[in-house]
Amino acid sequence: MRPVIVRTVAELRAMVRGWKAEGAAVGVVPTMGALHDGHLSLVRAAQRDCKRVIVTIFVNPKQFNSADDLAKYPRTEAADAALLAPLGVDAIFAPMPDEVYPEGFATNVSVGGISTRLEGLHRPGHFDGVATVVTKLFGMTLADRAYFGEKDWQQLQVVRRLVADLNLPVEIVGCPTIREPDNLARSSRNVRLSPEARTIASALPREMAKAAGAMRAGGPVHPTLDAAKAALLAAGFDEVEYIDLCDAETLLWIDELDGPGRLLAAAWVGGVRLIDNIAV
Ligand code: PAF
Repeated sequence: MRPVIVRTVAELRAMVRGWKAEGAAVGVVPTMGALHDGHLSLVRAAQRDCKRVIVTIFVNPKQFNSADDLAKYPRTEAADAALLAPLGVDAIFAPMPDEVYPEGFATNVSVGGISTRLEGLHRPGHFDGVATVVTKLFGMTLADRAYFGEKDWQQLQVVRRLVADLNLPVEIVGCPTIREPDNLARSSRNVRLSPEARTIASALPREMAKAAGAMRAGGPVHPTLDAAKAALLAAGFDEVEYIDLCDAETLLWIDELDGPGRLLAAAWVGGVRLIDNIAV
């Protein structure tokens, strides 16, 4: 059965209050739609932990830095609802933009430090948009737990910092990245890759795994990162915005490994921006 689609906060709150009165734990999977296996794995994780699960679908204008990227973002609500139907989620919350940002909306949630590095450097304001909408979605859904993919590792750490700093009563659960058979991370942007760009794209997880292996084995950080960047460009990537080794939690850049590190990268191929990350 297709899940019920809720458009307003008032309807959603009434539904959730009913569930909570029955003692049900409520999980939320925040998404921008264009659902794929990665999102479905988050839904399944939420269903393992929570009696009731809401999937939110909202293409958040505040987290896009370019009007073109926002316009091109796939909007596939009917297909998303069909994909969720066999999983039996309890509700899809798919509000219109003015339900989320009504006339006069004036608040910005900004997580300092961690939001300014990596993605933050290349997409100024992006994480303010994410932090603002995620704070609102937590307040709107009243969820006990929220599920985020490790694919957006920096986003996950930003959300964890936000929830800790503001004492928000929601538990953040990170879930592993779902990958294609050639290890390319599943992403809503992959559908925009031409067949040629799709072939080139597989170099990203491959070169990252090679670099991570070299650094784990004690190889020098900066020469290894430079070699990975050169290999990506040689494989056909048009631009490598960054390929950096960072502390896994703070995302501060590190020059040598002495704790849990994370290798994170963003690169362009055929007009599509891909990001990925792996533990080091
Ligand atoms: O990861 C996403 O799809 C978005 O950044 C999120 C968390 C749904 C906020 O709009």
